[in-house]
Amino acid sequence: MPPICQICDGAVEEFLDLGRQPLSDAFLTEQDLAGEFFYRLAVGVCRSCTMVQLVEQVPRDLMFHEDYPYYSSGSSVMREHFETTARALLARCADEPDPFVVEIGSNDGVLLKTVKAAGVRHLGFEPSGKVAAAAAEHGVRVLTDFFDAESAAAVQHNDGPADVIFAANTICHIPYMRSILEGVDRLLAADGIFVFEDPYFGDIVAKTSFDQIYDEHFFFFTARSVQAMVAGFGLELVDVERLPVHGGEVRYTIARAGARPPSDAVGALIEAERAQGLADLVTLRRFAADTARVRADLQALLRRLREEGQQVVGYGATAKSATVTNFCGIDSDLVSFVCDTTPAKQGRLTPGTHIPVRPAEAFADPYPPYALLFAWNHADEIMAKEQGFRESGGRWIQYVPEVHVS
Ligand code: SAM
Ligand code: TMP
Ligand code: ZN
Repeated sequence: MPPICQICDGAVEEFLDLGRQPLSDAFLTEQDLAGEFFYRLAVGVCRSCTMVQLVEQVPRDLMFHEDYPYYSSGSSVMREHFETTARALLARCADEPDPFVVEIGSNDGVLLKTVKAAGVRHLGFEPSGKVAAAAAEHGVRVLTDFFDAESAAAVQHNDGPADVIFAANTICHIPYMRSILEGVDRLLAADGIFVFEDPYFGDIVAKTSFDQIYDEHFFFFTARSVQAMVAGFGLELVDVERLPVHGGEVRYTIARAGARPPSDAVGALIEAERAQGLADLVTLRRFAADTARVRADLQALLRRLREEGQQVVGYGATAKSATVTNFCGIDSDLVSFVCDTTPAKQGRLTPGTHIPVRPAEAFADPYPPYALLFAWNHADEIMAKEQGFRESGGRWIQYVPEVHVS
């Protein structure tokens, strides 16, 4: 029996198996090692609606809980991105007498703090306790709960309809999509907009960024699959916009069916996806072959450097790096430690491969000869602040879109 599509119940055809993987954001203490959770990370395409998705689900409470360690405000580029985004969303509901903005996955308040500062009614849904508390410290109104059909209905009852429902890097995390879209249908005002942005499958294939595939990233959206996904809920995809953040994303704007005319960008992106062959098995199998090639190249480089006695340090203990390190068998023998600015990750071990995580300051103490850039989506920001590394003779190793040293 093939796996079943979480959107349309169609048959899902697997095209890439990334093997046994741990929870990507479970940074471990020595005591945690014995009970580490693993699952099979594999991805397939629905032969009916073209949605690309994982074939196995990890229970949501194992991923999003009190100690979830990802803080969105850790990147200055992302802080700026969300401030600009918040201003754009506020402009879109400026004509309403008392607008109401809801965010799904509001994390540490990186977006809603600008909405709050503008004095606009808002609410964030954020199930992960400590990041939600960080937002509340900024005065952001947060419900420490998962967004779904029931919690959305309760908010509609208490606060009334939402003019804007926004989500970044969250909708693709949610396998129970029918409940989400039912929730949007219950909460959204008649002329409201549901806007979400997530890593774009077209960029993932074009850049062979297979590390975007991990437990939390359940769906890999295209304009075509999102259009089909929302249509079953009386909703319509009315705009798409490509974004440079996190290695390439698309922002999807959804309205009630017939409420707003779709922009030309929707049809143009769907046509570009057809030309790229994003729903074709031949393209998807080529992506799997490219992924295997990147693994072989990265393994060969790291093994050669080990033989030469050259130290390699990882930069950024990203969730994505769990896929790379576990798929490629990169442990502390090949990468001596990973530095990261997040206090909740420091002093712990990376999931599955158990590489120590150290504070960012450890990077320069002293600089290693090679750094493996796990946070490649933040390359510009990191290279700008780590100029001393290159000046010391250090070299960056990257693996997107292919393995290269610079
Ligand atoms: N929006 C932020 C950003 O773009 O940086 C945070 C993204 S973070 C990768 C995903 C967030 O979604 C986590 O904080 C997680 O706790 C939250 N989340 C997961 N499932 C959710 C749900 N059903 N409703 C609301 N938030 C959810
Ligand atoms: P992300 O790619 O999922 O946003 O995760 C980025 C990780 O990299 C996160 O743990 C924070 C860390 N990081 C640094 O250590 N230094 C930096 O300059 C940036 C931007 C991120
Ligand atoms: Zn489907």
